[in-house]
Amino acid sequence: MKITTIGRGSIGGTLARLWTDAGHEVTTLGREGGDASDADVVLLSVRHADIPAALAGVTGLEGKLVIDTSNRLDGEPAHGGHASNAEFVKATVGGPTAKAFNLNFAKLLEGAAQAPNRPDNIWVGDEAARSAVEALTRDAGMQPRHAGPLDRAGAQEAFAELFMAIVKDADAGLLYYRFAAPVAI
Ligand SMILES: NC(=O)c1ccc[n+]([C@@H]2O[C@H](COP(=O)([O-])OP(=O)(O)OC[C@H]3O[C@@H](n4cnc5c(N)ncnc54)[C@H](OP(=O)(O)O)[C@@H]3O)[C@@H](O)[C@H]2O)c1
Repeated sequence: MKITTIGRGSIGGTLARLWTDAGHEVTTLGREGGDASDADVVLLSVRHADIPAALAGVTGLEGKLVIDTSNRLDGEPAHGGHASNAEFVKATVGGPTAKAFNLNFAKLLEGAAQAPNRPDNIWVGDEAARSAVEALTRDAGMQPRHAGPLDRAGAQEAFAELFMAIVKDADAGLLYYRFAAPVAI
């Protein structure tokens, strides 16, 4: 796939490396902006406050499939009066949209494929985004777990606070998460 990341920090930069290693053609954009016309998939991976400027700084986004990784910590409202940042992205760009990779620590992404039990990556979003999100999740060493349509993105963004609380309470450093079936799947 041709992938453009908007944001090349901890999450965007790490996924860009993993996807390049998996054989994808990845372009990374930062604050200088750029063009995403030839992208099959756009990864939006900037901090909550930077989302509107980041989208405005990139041309060729109209109708693109976008995966949004953002979290809103400390109860920050989503942009534009939407229930989630992912729905703001959908309203702005207009293409298939997914929320994913927001419940995975950037520092653990590189090691996901070597983890003894494959970590999960919960995602919600449009069916038209499914094959790309699920393939790119696997190419980052994780197992996709679809949790429903894009109108669940607010719940997924809110879950980040619970996840952080679980990690803090476990007092075992950063954690992956994984849903376990009673028999191996
Ligand atoms: N870090 C994690 O473990 C983690 C986990 C899950 C989800 N998330 C979420 O994922 C998102 C990215 O997190 P991160 O940790 O990767 O952040 P980060 O390391 O701070 O990287 C953010 C990137 O966004 C770029 N940026 C800022 N304004 C921009 C603009 N107007 N246009 C294009 N790029 C712009 C920054 O560029 P400069 O380098 O020039 O500042 C930087 O490369 C956040 O919403 C975060 O909540 C993070």
